Amino acid sequence: MHIKEVAKRLNTTARSIRFYEEKGLISPIKDAENDYRTFTDNDMMRLSTILALREIGISVENIREILEDPEMNIKQYLTIQRSALFEKWIEIKDMIETIDKMVDRTGNQENCIGDIQELSQHLKTMKNIRKSWKDKWNFDKQAADYDQNIKMHGYRFNVHQDYEQALEKVVTTISLAPGDMCLDIGIGTGNLGSRFLDSGVNVIGVDQSEEMLKQCKEKHPSIETRKGHFLTLPLMDIQVDGVVSSYALHHIPDTEKLLALQEMSRVVKDEGQICIVDLMFLDTNHQMQVLERFRSEGNLEAIDAIEDEYYADRSLLINWFNEHNFYVETHQFNDILSMIYATKR
Ligand SMILES: C[S@@+](CC[C@H](N)C(=O)[O-])C[C@H]1O[C@@H](n2cnc3c(N)ncnc32)[C@H](O)[C@@H]1O
Repeated sequence: MHIKEVAKRLNTTARSIRFYEEKGLISPIKDAENDYRTFTDNDMMRLSTILALREIGISVENIREILEDPEMNIKQYLTIQRSALFEKWIEIKDMIETIDKMVDRTGNQENCIGDIQELSQHLKTMKNIRKSWKDKWNFDKQAADYDQNIKMHGYRFNVHQDYEQALEKVVTTISLAPGDMCLDIGIGTGNLGSRFLDSGVNVIGVDQSEEMLKQCKEKHPSIETRKGHFLTLPLMDIQVDGVVSSYALHHIPDTEKLLALQEMSRVVKDEGQICIVDLMFLDTNHQMQVLERFRSEGNLEAIDAIEDEYYADRSLLINWFNEHNFYVETHQFNDILSMIYATKR
């Protein structure tokens, strides 16, 4: 088949096809005498894949990697691309909401410049918060040994005390029926999400660590894994029946935790449920008491471990849920571990 016919069939232009040829993505046979190109079925398949990937915004360079690397599978790239688009989408949603508020304020007041500046500052802060999170614990590196390590007790401080009971409590608390969709955020190797599979619940696992997601997929192929972040979940609005998360939220600071709750609330359906089990204190008083006790016992390992992460103030999370029309129940396992179960009213 010649270039014009190919262009017509694939609804593109001869110029675009030549561009991909120049970039080395396709190499149709060229007639030495007249330079006419002939495209085989294989060239057509390759070209239509290139066009489809370009359509969803994947760069020419990344397409080359996908096509040239036998190890690289298209699904991996699509997943990365979807996460990137969700990030952009959430940012654009934020911008539109901010503009809506600006329009409102300009309508009601003569002198609204201060308000507008405040709103744009807020938008900037949100963008920075979303972009600035760094994985200082290097979960990619921890992934292969994670399941083994949580069984260890640690020296003088066992951060995973009551781990099994806590995960089981989430499963018995949240009520999901076969066919329901459950999102597990910070899924790690899938220890919580996988507990829903036997009852026919569909599970999407989100994690910022690709290596954790790989481990999760190997152990539980039926979990759909997606790369993503607490603050930009790679899901559409009101898409899931339940959100669960275990031992993950304490990797983001308290103010960001409230944004994470907002994200969970965005993706969960009306009357949906959110169940979080994590390292947290009941409130600041409780935190002081616990730290004081460790100090008086000379348990610096415990203090260092706690201060290396962002254990939540449970009362702040409960307040947020109450203010946003959720009904909240709680359960405390030990001094540093609690569960919050919130249902949308
Ligand atoms: C301690 S592991 C817990 C894994 C699993 N939920 C469990 O209970 O065994 C924490 C997980 O949260 C993920 N994580 C940490 N911060 C995150 C963030 N901001 N967004 C998404 N995932 C995050 C890490 O990559 C890691 O897989």
